[in-house]
Amino acid sequence: MKLLVTGGAGFIGSNFIRHLLREHPDDSVVNLDKLTYAGNPANLADVAGDPRYAFVQGDICDAKLVRDVARGVDAIVNLAAESHVDRSLVEPDGFLRTDVFGVFTLLEAVRDLGIPRLLHVSTDEVYGSVARGSSTERDPLRPSNPYSASKAGGDLLALSYWHTHGVPVVLTRSSNNFGPHQYPEKVVPLFITNALDDTPLPLYGDGRNVRDWLYVLDNCAAIDLVLRRGRDGEVYNIGGGHEVENIALTREILRLTGKPDTLIRPVTDRPGHDRRYSVDSTKIGQLGWAPRYPFASALETTVRWYREHETWWRPLKSGEFRAWYERQYGNR
Ligand code: NAD
Ligand code: DAU
Repeated sequence: MKLLVTGGAGFIGSNFIRHLLREHPDDSVVNLDKLTYAGNPANLADVAGDPRYAFVQGDICDAKLVRDVARGVDAIVNLAAESHVDRSLVEPDGFLRTDVFGVFTLLEAVRDLGIPRLLHVSTDEVYGSVARGSSTERDPLRPSNPYSASKAGGDLLALSYWHTHGVPVVLTRSSNNFGPHQYPEKVVPLFITNALDDTPLPLYGDGRNVRDWLYVLDNCAAIDLVLRRGRDGEVYNIGGGHEVENIALTREILRLTGKPDTLIRPVTDRPGHDRRYSVDSTKIGQLGWAPRYPFASALETTVRWYREHETWWRPLKSGEFRAWYERQYGNR
């Protein structure tokens, strides 16, 4: 396949491109990425010289550019997004632009150019907080923060293009990913790198919110499977199958970094903080997918990666991130 991956310089995107080049020697990939604060060419330094890989810096909201790079591809995989909930609470504009209008731009290109498939990567957050049980693909969407509302907007628009114009879209909605190359604003890399620096770990509220952790390589395999075997117009949930309260996750990170629990700093809760996410992954299971990486060893691998790649994360934590951290946590 000849693929256009958008947002490939981010966390999941870079892992996904590496997965594609490893698993499909005949595939080629163009990576279209705006390089926001979260996009980092260093995430793909190891494949930069591969003749099957090309990078284009640009915005998925730029209709002309999108058409130029999308012409002739077999599929687009959309991983470009503003992705951090806390940022959507203070600077929502970019979320609406990229996560809704950017999806619209891709849909128009797919429609006009007759591209055979658009895989749009979404999130379990669109279902909103789930008190009991697990969300299936048929459940109503109840997003409760500007990030998840924007993602839900992109999802609904994509499905409407399938319904009205027959545009061949397929969606994935995964649970929380963790693994190498995740920007250190997200809880796992933030807490690992803070712990390594003996800096407090700011745990929101009572620390009992539940997330379902999915190792990023399991998500990459699932996206790849849906890309090749999923049905047009369908949504596929991808859950890690490892639900855990934040306090337990935090203690595990401290254990793996060899640091004391006294580093835990309870702070004011995130406004509108969803209590629990949980998705039912039966449907993608029927395509033959199941998570392969056990949580405990995947978290250990992740901690080791951050320990061994200080040159990757330390510069990230000093620039734009420092200003964000001061604003976000300074008075908390
Ligand atoms: P990320 O923030 O690490 O990366 C996003 C990438 O998109 C960056 O490289 C950024 O430069 C690029 N980008 C942003 N706006 C762009 C634009 N307008 N045009 C082109 N490129 C742009 O995000 P991630 O964690 O890798 O998430 C990727 C996708 O997966 C997102 O759609 C997110 O909603 C979804 N998702 C993430 C998780 C998770 O736990 N990280 C879970 C479920 C779903
Ligand atoms: O569920 C999928 C979603 O997972 C993705 O769609 C998002 O792109 C991704 O960012 C992630 O969203 P969360 O809000 O769940 O991830 P985050 O890492 O920000 O927070 C995870 C949990 O940890 C959440 O309950 C809030 C808590 N937390 C987070 C941070 C950053 C803290 O307690 N302290 C923190 O400093």
